[in-house]
Amino acid sequence: MDTSSLGTTGLTVSALGLGCMGLSDFYGPADNAESIATIQAALDAGITLLDTGDYYAAGHNEFLIREALRGRAREQTVLSVKFGLMRGPDGSIVGNDLRPPAVKNFLAYTLRRLDTEYIDVYRPGRVFPDVPIEETVGAIGEMVKAGYVRHVGLSEVGVETVRRAHAVHPISDLQIEYSLLSRGIEEEILPTCRELGIGVTAYGVLSRGLLSGHWSKERAATLAAHDFRASAPRFTGENLERNLALVETLRALAEARDATVAQLAIVWVLSRGSDVVPLVGARTRERLEEALGALDIELSAEDLAQIEEAIPADAAAGERYQSEQMAILDSERG
Ligand SMILES: NC(=O)c1ccc[n+]([C@@H]2O[C@H](COP(=O)([O-])OP(=O)(O)OC[C@H]3O[C@@H](n4cnc5c(N)ncnc54)[C@H](OP(=O)(O)O)[C@@H]3O)[C@@H](O)[C@H]2O)c1
Repeated sequence: MDTSSLGTTGLTVSALGLGCMGLSDFYGPADNAESIATIQAALDAGITLLDTGDYYAAGHNEFLIREALRGRAREQTVLSVKFGLMRGPDGSIVGNDLRPPAVKNFLAYTLRRLDTEYIDVYRPGRVFPDVPIEETVGAIGEMVKAGYVRHVGLSEVGVETVRRAHAVHPISDLQIEYSLLSRGIEEEILPTCRELGIGVTAYGVLSRGLLSGHWSKERAATLAAHDFRASAPRFTGENLERNLALVETLRALAEARDATVAQLAIVWVLSRGSDVVPLVGARTRERLEEALGALDIELSAEDLAQIEEAIPADAAAGERYQSEQMAILDSERG
């Protein structure tokens, strides 16, 4: 698989990464054996980048990754870990802690759970004004010096935070939502990352399944209450109908190219530049195989123009998060 360089601190990852969140959390029940097999199939196919968060089902996601990596050479995998959010035993999000001692504490537990001596990219999953980003990134920087972390990343932050963090320690990549349905980074955030030499790991490339070609009103109606999508604005009511109509316009283009909707959505993100690495949230080997198929598709400038005509930049109906969550996103602050 082709590789991409992210940032200026020597981070090299596969052109496509596997996002592991849905194997444990937010997208309904998953099968542990199939989850482990999916991670292993991704590694066997040449994916090196695995993204997780210590708060994905309170460590469960890290345990799955540890299991999947058993017996493999550690240096062949790039582990990207988010931290900071705190979960209660019932799964609710009960707070966050980005103070330097908390950074070190979270990291110590993550190293144990993943049974590794270092994390390749360590990043706060969300940032909050109560702890200046300089302090949090400074603490991760100390962990880089001590050898426990290789690179420092960010997640869902805006340009001011990117600049402040980068001034403390070089940032390898910003993880942020980016897809045909979520193009908010194009105006300011992506150009700032490029100016500073910071890569982007894009999540929500399939808009959490909405843009996969496998979503339907019937499926939306069967979601468990704790599934993120049960209350996500794009997945409900009239918004869902409008968004599914957009997906159908993409399906017609996909079929004409012997591709699937998911593959076109992934290859569109791949076309943004080698400094943009899509994370795909495949939860089964079957879905993974479909996602990997995107790497074999070449789109001409005309193809890309047709895709963007089918799904114009502001076409999505509904915000990408509920309003309370939008309000805490640093990346959404004007
Ligand atoms: N930094 C952040 O704030 C943040 C936020 C969210 C996620 N992330 C990271 O990004 C990763 C990706 O998550 P996402 O929500 O952005 O994923 P996504 O790829 O946009 O969506 C994943 C969903 O799409 C469905 N799907 C259908 N066809 C697929 C295919 N061919 N390949 C892959 N998935 C397919 C999957 O489940 P079915 O098989 O059930 O259809 C799954 O429910 C996460 O695992 C996490 O590591 C980061």
